[in-house]
Amino acid sequence: MASLSLTQIRGSNSVTEFTRLRLKTQRGRGKTGFLKVVGSQGQNQGEPDLSVTVNGLHMPNPFVIGSGPPGTNYTVMKRAFDEGWGAVIAKTVSLDAAKVINVTPRYARLRAGANGSAKGQIIGWENIELISDRPLETMLKEFKQLKEEYPDRILIASIMEEYNKAAWEELIDRVEQTGIDALEINFSCPHGMPERKMGAAVGQDCALLEEVCGWINAKATVPVWAKMTPNITDITQPARVSLKSGCEGVAAINTIMSVMGINLKTLRPEPCVEGYSTPGGYSSKAVHPIALGKVMNIAKMMKSEFDSEQYSLSGIGGVETGSDAAEFILVGANTVQVGKSIFIAFYLSCSYCLISFTST
Ligand SMILES: Cc1cc2nc3c(=O)[nH]c(=O)nc-3n(C[C@H](O)[C@H](O)[C@H](O)COP(=O)(O)O)c2cc1C
Repeated sequence: MASLSLTQIRGSNSVTEFTRLRLKTQRGRGKTGFLKVVGSQGQNQGEPDLSVTVNGLHMPNPFVIGSGPPGTNYTVMKRAFDEGWGAVIAKTVSLDAAKVINVTPRYARLRAGANGSAKGQIIGWENIELISDRPLETMLKEFKQLKEEYPDRILIASIMEEYNKAAWEELIDRVEQTGIDALEINFSCPHGMPERKMGAAVGQDCALLEEVCGWINAKATVPVWAKMTPNITDITQPARVSLKSGCEGVAAINTIMSVMGINLKTLRPEPCVEGYSTPGGYSSKAVHPIALGKVMNIAKMMKSEFDSEQYSLSGIGGVETGSDAAEFILVGANTVQVGKSIFIAFYLSCSYCLISFTST
């Protein structure tokens, strides 16, 4: 198989550089285009150009690191940029990280094969991980440093807050001051502190979602993507509400509410911390068909009700290869996010996605 160098991909950019509009009260939507794989001009003639521009954000390719462990700190996000990822979405942050207690163990695996044999390939992954437990100040410093070092690369901050307008406004203001390019709003973590009306507690309630999206979009000066939970009967409803309330894009899906299994020796669910457990979020290869179905439904709704040049859709769920990514693009996504497979094998890399994508 012919290999495709990332330098060549980067060098083949033929899309006009985007200038972000930073207007306080009326932010520009910026144009969104669909991926076109074309031979580029000049030096790299014949090499495919996978660059995309979504909501005015120019990316060298549509492959995006999804919010989670690979966006936890400066080191891993820098690595993602060096690896050639089209954009990076940082781990979700909130104002007060002291309220976030992440436990260990917090993951459980489903393996293919008889009785989940330890030799079987991991096809399902459950987590009960919360959002970032690192101090917000630390995360903000790292966002700023990354944007200083990689001014042309797209860094998206994922944010989540309580049902409190002033708190959302403060968080948006502080995060935007670092120079990040866009915001993804985590309306979707299934175990994301619902008692504080955070995460899926908002994404599953369209009235609440409309109100919170209204606060966010009145404040934000960069493009806003609303990340959807699949734990709802009709995912097009919150997607529609988010776009009508001013968001420029929708990302789907976050993890699926699950109980991975019960340990028949201890009679406790997995993962289990000192005898206690809680349902978690399911991801990885096994969720890919479900995610494709949800993204297809959102894409159809967006096509019939919204101007596709102004809004974008980011597909997420079980992407391990460029072929998986191609499927999301074929059902209507503009970009594709990769989650679990990255932090299991970080160097199941962007180059691998690019190679398998371009040979699909
Ligand atoms: C361990 C872990 C942590 C995650 N943390 C976040 C998070 O902080 N914010 C968020 O929006 N999504 C988070 N996600 C969800 C992923 O971004 C993604 O939506 C989901 O895992 C499905 O994609 P995948 O099958 O490629 O992993 C997390 C997922 C995992 C597995």
